[in-house]
Amino acid sequence: MGKVHEQIDDRLRTFIQAQHVFFVATAPLAADGRVNLSPKGIDGTFTVVDERTVAWLDITASGAETIAHLRENGRITVMFCAFTGPPNIVRLHGRGRVVSLYDADFDAWAARFDDLRGARAVIVVHVERVSDSCGYGVPLLEHAGERDLLQPFMERKGADGQADYRRLKNRTSIDGLPAFDDDPLPTDPAPR
Ligand SMILES: Cc1cc2nc3c(=O)[nH]c(=O)nc-3n(C[C@H](O)[C@H](O)[C@H](O)COP(=O)(O)O)c2cc1C
Repeated sequence: MGKVHEQIDDRLRTFIQAQHVFFVATAPLAADGRVNLSPKGIDGTFTVVDERTVAWLDITASGAETIAHLRENGRITVMFCAFTGPPNIVRLHGRGRVVSLYDADFDAWAARFDDLRGARAVIVVHVERVSDSCGYGVPLLEHAGERDLLQPFMERKGADGQADYRRLKNRTSIDGLPAFDDDPLPTDPAPR
């Protein structure tokens, strides 16, 4: 049944890299702050870097809760459920950081992914605890395909349109914390 693992071993790596969706939970420090839970897992946007590190490409979208909470306190839990094959649930508790598309090391991190359309950041998680549980209650589901909507939607906006969208939607979390406020204001002379 449930087990705590020393690290992400080859079996766990194979399992989590095969999942088409995973879930990311973060929270602000404020006692009355809103806890966030986001689905992720667009094909090709997740990778296991090593036994203690995972990363994914964070696509421009209507919210930026994960970024806001990581920038405030770093706490994060990532969960993978087996919707096919043997039952399993894997949780990775750790500390995450945001590598913004404006950061010097973005290109190096982004090189791990093939499709960068709409990317605003790479989220890098240092995993402090690896555990699994039985997954006996997880339903069996068939993956019918990707919707292929988010990245084309962002691609149609172009780089400037994505920056406009982020300035409008991503600057703060729903609690008002700084989120993705990296895009230079249109009046700024040049990106930092
Ligand atoms: C099934 C599913 C998979 C998703 N996969 C991703 C993904 O791989 N990367 C991503 O940035 N957003 C993905 N999204 C959108 C996110 O759930 C979310 O809206 C967006 O990333 C903002 O998340 P945040 O508020 O946690 O920062 C996905 C949404 C769904 C419904």
